[in-house]
Amino acid sequence: MRLDKFLTEVGLGSRTEVKTLLKKKLITVNGQVITSPKEQVDELADQVSYQWEPLLYEDLVYYLLNKPAGVISATEDSKQRTVLDLLDDTARHKQVFPVGRLDKDTTGLLLLTNNGQLAHALLSPKKHVDKTYEADVDGLMDEDDVAAFAAGITLSDHQCLPAVLELLDMAEQTSRVRITIREGKFHQVKRMVASRGKTVTGLKRLSMGPLNLPDDLPEGAYRRLTADEVTALLALV
Ligand code: URA
Repeated sequence: MRLDKFLTEVGLGSRTEVKTLLKKKLITVNGQVITSPKEQVDELADQVSYQWEPLLYEDLVYYLLNKPAGVISATEDSKQRTVLDLLDDTARHKQVFPVGRLDKDTTGLLLLTNNGQLAHALLSPKKHVDKTYEADVDGLMDEDDVAAFAAGITLSDHQCLPAVLELLDMAEQTSRVRITIREGKFHQVKRMVASRGKTVTGLKRLSMGPLNLPDDLPEGAYRRLTADEVTALLALV
């Protein structure tokens, strides 16, 4: 591939930015300073370095985003901000996409990757990957609700698998709860709570399978998955 494409794909900057780095003689290929963006490199065999630090080329990439409210779980949209707008150039060049959707007003853990096989496995109804959410609820949830979730909530178009409802905090007319489901139907958590006559007013995803939302990752921020996290996910495929 062209050297400027390689450099943008490893996240060094836009095409224009990497051209400047090349002009400044900061890029070497196999130890030789190269200034032409058109230079052809073999991404697997050649050693490309920036300021003498080797750059690692990856095919498959994995991002964990703490999704803020107000952005949609899509890759592009003519009007609304998408989760892809929050990631870096590498993510866009590598064409990552969200694994499953969070509603526009839902916050928390969202996995984005270009590994289609993994995404397919994680979303497959047969795999039953646990997803845990914290929800603020208008109305008091109680032990009857816990039992109904454990038995399996019936929605108009779907019989839910047994789910875990944990009561965390109760105020006068509101509740904070933790809910673990093994499916991912449209608006599932909100609809399960609604079926009990209460309303979700805030929803945040805390975990998905082996992935947990890191405490130190602010809303709107992302990080790459660690090697251990990738290994744990790939064990599900
Ligand atoms: N369930 C919902 O209702 N919304 C989400 O965003 C995720 C799960």
